[in-house]
Amino acid sequence: MKKIFVAVCFVLFFSKIYTQEKGLSKEESKAEIKEKVAVLLSKMTLKEKIGQMNQYNGFWNVTGPTPTKGDAAKKYDHLKSGQVGSMLNVRGVEEVKRVQKIAVEETRLGIPLIIGFDVIHGYKTISPIPLAEAASWDMDAIKKSAQVAAREAAASGINWTFAPMVDISRDARWGRVMEGSGEDPFLGSKIAYARVKGFQGDHLNEVTTIAACAKHFAGYGFSESGRDYNTVDVGTATLHNVIFPPFKAAIDADVKTFMNSFNELNGIPATGNAFLQRDVLKGKWGYKGFVVSDWGSINEMIAHGYTKDKLRASEIAVNAGSDMDMESYAYVNYLETLVANGKVDIEKINDAVRRILTVKFELGLFDNPYLYCDIEREKEEIGSSKNIATVLDMAKKSIVLLKNENQLLPLNKKGQKIAVIGDLAQDKNSPLGSWRIAGEDNTAVSVLEGLKAYDQNQISYTKGVTLTEGKTDFTLETKINTENRDGIKEAVALAAKNDIVIMVLGENGFQSGEGRSRTNLDLPGLQQELLEAVYSVNKNIVLVLMNGRPLTINWANDTIPAIVEAWHLGTQSGNAIAEVLYGDYNPSGKLPMTFPKSVGQIPIYYNYKSTGRPKIPAPNMVFWSHYIDQTNAPLYEFGYGLSYTTFKYSNLKLSKTSFKKGEKIKLSFTLKNTGKYEGKEVTQLYIQDKYASITRPVKELKGFKMVSLKPGESKEVTFFINEEMLQFYSANNKWEAEEGEFTVFLGGSSKTVLEDNFMLVN
Ligand code: BGC
Repeated sequence: MKKIFVAVCFVLFFSKIYTQEKGLSKEESKAEIKEKVAVLLSKMTLKEKIGQMNQYNGFWNVTGPTPTKGDAAKKYDHLKSGQVGSMLNVRGVEEVKRVQKIAVEETRLGIPLIIGFDVIHGYKTISPIPLAEAASWDMDAIKKSAQVAAREAAASGINWTFAPMVDISRDARWGRVMEGSGEDPFLGSKIAYARVKGFQGDHLNEVTTIAACAKHFAGYGFSESGRDYNTVDVGTATLHNVIFPPFKAAIDADVKTFMNSFNELNGIPATGNAFLQRDVLKGKWGYKGFVVSDWGSINEMIAHGYTKDKLRASEIAVNAGSDMDMESYAYVNYLETLVANGKVDIEKINDAVRRILTVKFELGLFDNPYLYCDIEREKEEIGSSKNIATVLDMAKKSIVLLKNENQLLPLNKKGQKIAVIGDLAQDKNSPLGSWRIAGEDNTAVSVLEGLKAYDQNQISYTKGVTLTEGKTDFTLETKINTENRDGIKEAVALAAKNDIVIMVLGENGFQSGEGRSRTNLDLPGLQQELLEAVYSVNKNIVLVLMNGRPLTINWANDTIPAIVEAWHLGTQSGNAIAEVLYGDYNPSGKLPMTFPKSVGQIPIYYNYKSTGRPKIPAPNMVFWSHYIDQTNAPLYEFGYGLSYTTFKYSNLKLSKTSFKKGEKIKLSFTLKNTGKYEGKEVTQLYIQDKYASITRPVKELKGFKMVSLKPGESKEVTFFINEEMLQFYSANNKWEAEEGEFTVFLGGSSKTVLEDNFMLVN
């Protein structure tokens, strides 16, 4: 009898809501969903509501310790009794169906689960790591890469990705820089927007799209000393002008969910931070989606020294606006008591549940809880040739040429004998990078395979030295080889016999990512020694770097003629690198993050403040802002990257030199391809606000355009300067542009080559 009643309710409440099918406008469908959520909410018991706010990991361990006794043992029962609203790390049509069936058929109201997963840079077909993609400065390619990830994940039963990570970071020691877009809030905002649009598409209930999640709100990229999970203490200006903008951009792209963060921000853990989640996110920004905690982060407020126990942690988190509890077992155990004793207002619970149910409706899960569970689609979509082509394109666009003395690159396609050296050259796993949890191990095209596909006869290989020993995964069992030098001799002998040496060096795929902070950013292990030994017999070296973060490669920069930044480029790694090395693809990537000369310079970033003592006042004077053992300059600046051709910037013109709010200045300049190859250049526009109610950076990126040119060709490039570009979070605590003097800079990196001045007047 109960089951029939439930079935009738199901049909009545959850009739089809496809906007397209019914020809409803966005507003109408929103209103319809609102109505359905209200009806459903009115039928729910408090326990069922709290259930929607509870997210469990699949029944195995992925990113954190999952207890096997106690709370964890209750997961299954909770699922059956409607006390679970979401699961993460359940994947594949069969498995998703299994848990969804329990939620839909065995619980009283049959509310479907929302299935979450860390689809960070691809699901099975792996794209470059996000930091690498950021180096493309190509929003269309980035969006397409997110679309591939969404299509494959959605075909595998997944509804929701915990991406994009939009944390700005100025600290290469932090292992998670690989997962973000680098150091700049403007570039980071554009990428946040593109990724959200890529994942979510135009209609969330299409079977090719999934809900996105802007994370980690907020400040996670500013952990002290670059140590993961460490304390964050930043001032108002940095928070608003640097950390917040990409989150705001994600909202502009209609991101459906947010994730809070492990760190404390100025003394209050982000998870329990009402300023962040209630005042800014849901208040000032009017955000309508829901916030999920980070893994166990409600519980971690006890370790932070912020709350005495889980009961109080639950109270603080829910009141601060954390809507869903990921694996803390806090809400499911304590919210009922907190509502009963008046510590948590039922309206807070209703608000959280409304937000969660809305996203489930939008995904179409109430129309068909198995919408994303089609075994045929799963087979067709995953690894399709279309997906492979997209990630290959993305990989080529992500490569940054750092040095190319005497045009050593591109390589000739014949007549050169090439030695390939380095453990990473044969590695089919590392190129997949960190955070590719659904990616099958050892499925990347290695550099060696990519090169051999071009011209097998010329290539010979030796490893040189082993980079890592032991298991390379989320555990700490990975050992960097610092002792075994056995292969160096052979590498030297091989190098001596060949015309060119391609050395593939850098970080193993698991040396960056969560929990992988480093205090030393040199080439790990014995790789530097190997490089120097090889160089002693053959100077024609192309160094291909594979890494998840900026490295301090001073010796290589001073010595090695050609250096290619190839990050961890995903499934098609080796093919992309080969195309670039052989000149079938002319690199156009630009660094999204400054490369330091030494760890001691960190945090190092292009949009720094001038200070009161920016320049040496007289020869040998010591009292200015500098180091006595290192210059202030980075190894490679933000926005830097070469091409096989060269570009010349000239003829900067401004349509006027002063303008009023509401008006614009037209800016133009000439870009000429002065080299021998057709190529693309990311032209970059920076602005400095020369004085303001708070001090402003020496320059800030405010625009960029990719321009393609044939050899000898010139084009006029235009930008418009408007008031919006001059806005910042001022001393008045609001976004505004202040009148005054500005300098505009243009160039192919943050070390710009053209500049002029203009004014904003009243
Ligand atoms: C990470 C999140 C991730 C979550 C779930 C945490 O350790 O900080 O970014 O989404 O695990 O896997």
